[in-house]
Amino acid sequence: MTDPVAKILNQQLFGGDPFRSEPQHSPQFIDEGWASYPEVLDTVIDTLKPRMIIEVGVWLGQSTFNMLERALIHDPATSIICIDTWLGSPEHWLNNEWKLQLRLKEGRPDIYSLFVDNVRAKGYGDHILPMSMTSLQAAKLLTELEISADLIYLDGAHDKEEVLSDIEKYWPFLPVGGCMIGDDYCDPWPGVVEAVHEFKKDREDLEFVHSRDKFVFYKK
Ligand SMILES: C[S@@+](CC[C@H](N)C(=O)[O-])C[C@H]1O[C@@H](n2cnc3c(N)ncnc32)[C@H](O)[C@@H]1O
Repeated sequence: MTDPVAKILNQQLFGGDPFRSEPQHSPQFIDEGWASYPEVLDTVIDTLKPRMIIEVGVWLGQSTFNMLERALIHDPATSIICIDTWLGSPEHWLNNEWKLQLRLKEGRPDIYSLFVDNVRAKGYGDHILPMSMTSLQAAKLLTELEISADLIYLDGAHDKEEVLSDIEKYWPFLPVGGCMIGDDYCDPWPGVVEAVHEFKKDREDLEFVHSRDKFVFYKK
């Protein structure tokens, strides 16, 4: 079997498997996240059969594992590049329930080690490249690494300025025929809705579909 690109990049960037440490938490798998309507992603994955997925906004990996499990049915060499600061977003600080989920430790969110445990428990280390940085920083690094992706899933920041930046910065990684899906394209998240409308206005290189709470852009 061809090695997944994530395995090769993990070797290049980290000198080996970044998930090789011992489990740090008990239980070793925590199923927590916001992965709503995974069937929208499943349908696109069944059509595209992506070999490379970029995900912005990962948290503990619920949406990562949903996408990867589906994609691996079609291609055992699928990789997913997981981009997150693992520091949460302003909305996590403003909602008391979500703030608890930041697991603050000495004033700082402590989430990444839970994601690592989850990846190890799932056995997906060779398929996942973790990029622990802002989406803007990751876009610059991925450009240098000459990465392209069949599917891009955006679920990071939710304010207009950052969502528009994520769409603009990640659109170039898609070839014609590729697909970008973004979460929370719905009334409770007006910043996402406004960013989507601003990006797609007057563009002729995309086909737009609204599916459940997601926007879907196919690159033409
Ligand atoms: C809603 S959560 C992602 C949920 C995940 N997709 C799921 O379905 O469970 C949003 C994530 O985006 C990350 N995030 C927000 N803004 C970011 C940015 N500019 N760059 C990188 N990560 C960011 C946060 O740290 C947080 O983990």
